[in-house]
Amino acid sequence: MSTFKALRVHQQDKSTVARFESLSVDDLSRGDVVVRVAWSGINYKDALAVTGKGRILKGYPKVPGIDLAGIVESSSDPRYHAGDRVLATGCNIGEALDGGYAEYARLPASTLVALPEGLTMREAMAIGTAGFTAAMALRRMLENHQAPDMGPIAITGPTGGVGSIAIDLFKRAGFTVHAVTGKAGVADDYLKSLGADKIVSRQDLNLGTRPLESALWGGAVDNLGGETLAWLTRTTRPWGNIASIGLAQSHELHTTVMPFILRGVSLLGIHSVECPRAWREAIWRNLSTDLKPAALDRIVAREIALDDLPAVCEELIAGTVTGRTLVRISGD
Ligand SMILES: NC(=O)c1ccc[n+]([C@@H]2O[C@H](COP(=O)([O-])OP(=O)(O)OC[C@H]3O[C@@H](n4cnc5c(N)ncnc54)[C@H](OP(=O)(O)O)[C@@H]3O)[C@@H](O)[C@H]2O)c1
Repeated sequence: MSTFKALRVHQQDKSTVARFESLSVDDLSRGDVVVRVAWSGINYKDALAVTGKGRILKGYPKVPGIDLAGIVESSSDPRYHAGDRVLATGCNIGEALDGGYAEYARLPASTLVALPEGLTMREAMAIGTAGFTAAMALRRMLENHQAPDMGPIAITGPTGGVGSIAIDLFKRAGFTVHAVTGKAGVADDYLKSLGADKIVSRQDLNLGTRPLESALWGGAVDNLGGETLAWLTRTTRPWGNIASIGLAQSHELHTTVMPFILRGVSLLGIHSVECPRAWREAIWRNLSTDLKPAALDRIVAREIALDDLPAVCEELIAGTVTGRTLVRISGD
């Protein structure tokens, strides 16, 4: 391989532009391991980076793509050898480091996880950062004593990547799941097929204004932030946990201390990019065994080629995509 194809984002004046280029490995950010990329996927953050709708990339030009799975081409780190199957999610790839939207990636060995037995590279990318994050939310909530008899789990943004896999994981962990969606009536069959017990229309929510409203939820997985997360804090039952994952609606949160000091509600931060390596490996082991999502085939909405990325990223930002989108690079 002398040169290969990559999608690279440049900064021009004060905006950004993504274009396909021919690169060599030495054009990429530094790393010990060169990986021939087989599959990647699209997360909300990737769509922000490619479209320039959010400041995700740290330094330009940069190859976006926070997830990749592939085969090691060469390695100067003794932990990896040519031919090894590996995956990488988060760890600043596709942000500060060049990422997965290219035929080759060069990465620090510390960002890689050996592909667990029980997962193909395609399955690993169907799960991707989205599924890893959903599994981290489940782990943190269980560690903080979330239990099915505390009541239903509200999952917001449920037709998205994180939300879809969260439905699958929480349902199989024994919880009742209510999907709070902006696509009620359109995506009901999809959400029920993943395990949602009830579909709640986000447009029809009565958000209320009091510091504490009627307690509805045993806990929640929130992908939206903003007024939806504020409402979840006001409507979660005593000792319930809310995993704060995303900001698809807003990065702001206006609430009071009342849910925390009068109901013992916990707001758990979920940060999938940088987490202790032992957690990362344990979560991937779980995702390849007992927590392997059962509905992955239904969650993968489509497979696209590198060339299709710019258009599909626009659709993701518009909130019209359901489920996960896989990016086939050299994948078989
Ligand atoms: N903390 C972390 O480590 C971490 C990791 C991964 C992702 N995230 C964040 O989590 C969120 C979800 O990520 P994802 O990859 O699942 O994204 P995604 O696939 O684009 O899904 C987001 C979902 O949110 C809803 N939505 C989209 N735009 C919205 C808007 N303007 N207002 C209200 N709802 C909207 C839609 O669901 P419905 O139509 O069903 O309502 C959409 O399917 C993003 O904010 C992402 O940045 C954080």
